Amino acid sequence: MMGSMRTVADLMTSPAITAGPDEQLAEAAERMRTAGVGSVVVVEENRPVGILTERDLVRSSAAATTDGLVREWMTPDPDCVGPDIEVADAWRSLAAHGYRHIPVVVAGELKGIVSMRDLMAVAQLRPVEGSFTDVPRGLKGVVVAETQVGDVRGLEGFYHYRQYSAIDITTKRSFEDAWYLLLEGELPTWADRERFDAEVGALRTLPDPLRDVLPNIARAGGEHAGPLEGLRTAVSLLATAEGFRPTLDIDRATLRANALRVCAVVPTIIAALHRLAAGQDPIDPDQRLGHASNYLYMLTGAVPDPERARAIERYMTSTIDHGFNASTFTARVVTSTGADLGSALVAAIGSLSGPLHGGAPSRALDTLDAIGSPERTDAWVRNAMASGQRIMGFGHPVYRTVDPRSEMLKGTARELGGSLVEFAEKVESTVLSVLAELKPDRQLHTNVEFYAGVVMELCGLPRPLFTPTFAVSRTVGWCAHILEQAADNRIIRPSARYVGPPPPQPVPDRD
Ligand SMILES: CC(C)(COP(=O)(O)OP(=O)(O)OC[C@H]1O[C@@H](n2cnc3c(N)ncnc32)[C@H](O)[C@@H]1OP(=O)(O)O)[C@@H](O)C(=O)NCCC(=O)NCCS
Repeated sequence: MMGSMRTVADLMTSPAITAGPDEQLAEAAERMRTAGVGSVVVVEENRPVGILTERDLVRSSAAATTDGLVREWMTPDPDCVGPDIEVADAWRSLAAHGYRHIPVVVAGELKGIVSMRDLMAVAQLRPVEGSFTDVPRGLKGVVVAETQVGDVRGLEGFYHYRQYSAIDITTKRSFEDAWYLLLEGELPTWADRERFDAEVGALRTLPDPLRDVLPNIARAGGEHAGPLEGLRTAVSLLATAEGFRPTLDIDRATLRANALRVCAVVPTIIAALHRLAAGQDPIDPDQRLGHASNYLYMLTGAVPDPERARAIERYMTSTIDHGFNASTFTARVVTSTGADLGSALVAAIGSLSGPLHGGAPSRALDTLDAIGSPERTDAWVRNAMASGQRIMGFGHPVYRTVDPRSEMLKGTARELGGSLVEFAEKVESTVLSVLAELKPDRQLHTNVEFYAGVVMELCGLPRPLFTPTFAVSRTVGWCAHILEQAADNRIIRPSARYVGPPPPQPVPDRD
């Protein structure tokens, strides 16, 4: 029946088991037991006049009698349904009555019987017109889950990690504190941090199966492959090599251990892939360094100066989580199927790679390059807008005011100083005034990518590492959401409205 409407006739049992109204109750009960059915249709000249169910038998035995006639115990004048009625319509019109079995009749004559349970199963598999809920394209503004991980308030220019301003966490605490907060639900004490540092520090080392194949992964895609593509492959392999099991089959402690392992080793994988692509040997992690410092160290082999390490740590801490963005949603959808943490992260990395999400933080810097000098900004922006382009690093799907990450990173860029920062600030103010003039009814502000690019450039990160560096921090956010989804799971399975040619079309014969 694929593709066509299912009707009651498709589901009914025919012929139905029947009884006469003047039959002894005990005889009808015996027939029900023998046939293994929960009810019989009571008929006179094949016309339903009542329905006798197990419940009626229970009532009669509670009254300590089985001698009596069917008509005394049956429900008279039962609701009936025609065989050509669509299942969903039948279910909707009958569900309110609480009947379990419905006689199917044509012109008053009994043709069969259908159970409400069967009707419901099919009706729910194929929702009818009217039981769809249409939502805006892209699910914009639609609440699809409850979370305690954090939230973004676009009108206020505010976002938080588990009730604490994410910007305050970024400026006052370390990456590891934020990581602990997201995964464990509270900020760590000193003792907690000591234990946590030892735990995650030991998890940074590449497992042998991965160490062996990373050179091939780095080489495999040739010039098209970058560290993000390599990371996607490596996380998949890691999850298999370390025996990650479906979230459905493991407890929270095991899932947490999986999560810590991936969060800890992702920087090592990215740094190794980056070096291997440049023909250099990977550098082993240094457990004495913090997460961000160690990442920079593994890229170059030099312990970074504290100012740069702190700048990258700020970028990373401020991008751990940011509401129900596309990759976070992706991670939760995969987790909702009960799949393992590795599968959810591979999917999330794929989602992050898209230029409309995390895949283009270097484009804002490319824009600065293209503008070249501050006095060209006005003309360049007008020209770009006239040809329908968006100015990279400006505008945001949620913020209708200043992006707080942009403000914080601008401060960080200023602390690092230099001509690039001065240039970026001049370009920013001109772009904002041109955007305000050309799009007066829009609230277009600088987004996180503008100064993130500047900060990463000043800290010596090559542009191909911008998105992978974003992945280092966002892996922690994804894991927090995966843990939350797994703890209170329901499969995420929305509907789509079919808008193609009406089915079923005849399948053409082969020539
Ligand atoms: C981030 C972005 C996709 C958000 O999109 P959005 O909130 O859905 O905004 P809309 O697409 O509804 O755009 C609103 C209006 O502002 C304009 N606009 C938005 N961002 C703009 C930008 N960066 N440059 C020029 N115009 C922009 C749009 O053209 C649109 O104008 P219209 O209504 O006259 O067509 C968008 O601002 C953008 O493309 N920015 C540049 C890319 C970027 O920096 N991405 C990183 C995001 S963190």
